[in-house]
Amino acid sequence: MVIPFWDDLTAAVTEHPFTEELAPLLQAGDFKAKQGEVSCVYTRGKEKRVLALGLGKAEKVTCETLRRAFASAMRFAHGKKVKRLAVLVPHTRLVSEETVSSVAEGLVLTNYAFTKLKGEASQKESPTVLVEHLSLIGVKCPEVVEKIQVVAKGIYLVRDWINGNADDITPKMLAELARSLASSTPGLKAHILEKKDLEREKMGLILAVNRASNLDPYLIELSYQGDPSSQDKIALVGKGVTYDTGGLSLKPTDNMLTMKCDMSGGATVLGTVYLAALLKLKVNVTAVVPATENSIGSKSYKLGDVYRSHSGKTVEINNTDAEGRLVLADALSYAIQTLKPTAVVDVATLTGSIIMALGEEMAGLFANDEGLAQDLMGASEKTGEQLWRMPLNPDYKDSLRADFGDLLNTGGRDAGAMKAGLFLQEFVGTTAWAHIDLAGPAYVSRPKHYWPTKATGYGVRLLLEFLERRAHS
Ligand code: BES
Ligand code: MN
Ligand code: ZN
Repeated sequence: MVIPFWDDLTAAVTEHPFTEELAPLLQAGDFKAKQGEVSCVYTRGKEKRVLALGLGKAEKVTCETLRRAFASAMRFAHGKKVKRLAVLVPHTRLVSEETVSSVAEGLVLTNYAFTKLKGEASQKESPTVLVEHLSLIGVKCPEVVEKIQVVAKGIYLVRDWINGNADDITPKMLAELARSLASSTPGLKAHILEKKDLEREKMGLILAVNRASNLDPYLIELSYQGDPSSQDKIALVGKGVTYDTGGLSLKPTDNMLTMKCDMSGGATVLGTVYLAALLKLKVNVTAVVPATENSIGSKSYKLGDVYRSHSGKTVEINNTDAEGRLVLADALSYAIQTLKPTAVVDVATLTGSIIMALGEEMAGLFANDEGLAQDLMGASEKTGEQLWRMPLNPDYKDSLRADFGDLLNTGGRDAGAMKAGLFLQEFVGTTAWAHIDLAGPAYVSRPKHYWPTKATGYGVRLLLEFLERRAHS
């Protein structure tokens, strides 16, 4: 059982059954109840271990401090191979729904492991969910906990796809996964464009990036119409590069090492639309995922050559490793032309440059529409998935000017994340558009707080919250 304490060593609950057992620990002064601190006391009773969990200062508590503190309790439970965990939910200065949802998020998001690729023995030892029975005690709003269990199901799925081998999570597999979500979920529809369809639609940039790959490209659409009476329609476009070698502008080993994560944006938008359907949100939303590898070979698309995009603009390639903006450009203009969305948000592991700027805790937000940017910033504040607004300064568009084509695909290393954004902006016309570069937080170098594996699922709760707010307005 987990019992939360404030840093003045008072329990954060009105009463608990282990006052006696915990008294020596509290008196000894070993446990200071700092934010996330855990101490374990052993008893002879039915409850073998009692965990005292520090929440830090009562007057400083936020949703995020709660998420992280309870994440720490869950990690401790994993260390002890605990299969059953009861948790006393604290009383805090926050409203009770916020407290409950944050505690549940901290616990549930942390209760995940990825062991599919281990040998058989350790696979059995460690299933996806490590604590099998989790009960929250003192909850007056069980529906809040139930919702988080549903959301976690989507996030675990997204993490599985990103953590999975690039050889397994291929463009075709992503298409099949979308199809199977659609067939098992009321209201969800999948529409898959194959290579011949991409040729018919003249998506020359996706086809160029795909050229050296043995695997066909797909454009995956997953839609959910939760509010047929509304004209509002959101398109969520996600980068689905299932492996990024860099192409002829080949990546060095260290940079290629993590490139199975390059479909994170695609996984995120598919997971979000799946959850919108499971939660029956009153919104109309479509995920659009251009899926391909960026491979290298004798069929590679070429530096210096010019390729025609779906929009009709031509792009002169000066770096084949800037493939994400190419596949997104075609997907964005196709989504805008065919779906006529009121707003479009693209999500992509687009640049190393955004990691240099913001690190692994925050994603960068670029937008041509203040209202849309504010809505996403507001959602981010709520869910704790940190976003930082970045500029789209037209002065920098010069760097994308090409000799032969209409545009170069890269404009040099400086301000790389913004120049990628400026490139994308050329393909959205006047539609309200936002671009989230989550190259940092989508796939982290080491597990932390409620991100127990490299693939974090960052962005799913953010986009879901964004959609929910859209539904209420
Ligand atoms: N997929 C990478 C970006 C990336 C880097 C994602 C690190 C996750 C971690 C993207 O396709 C890429 O290679 N971008 C280049 C752009 C450059 C050539 C202008 C980059 O950031 O180096
Ligand atoms: Mn690349
Ligand atoms: Zn890439």
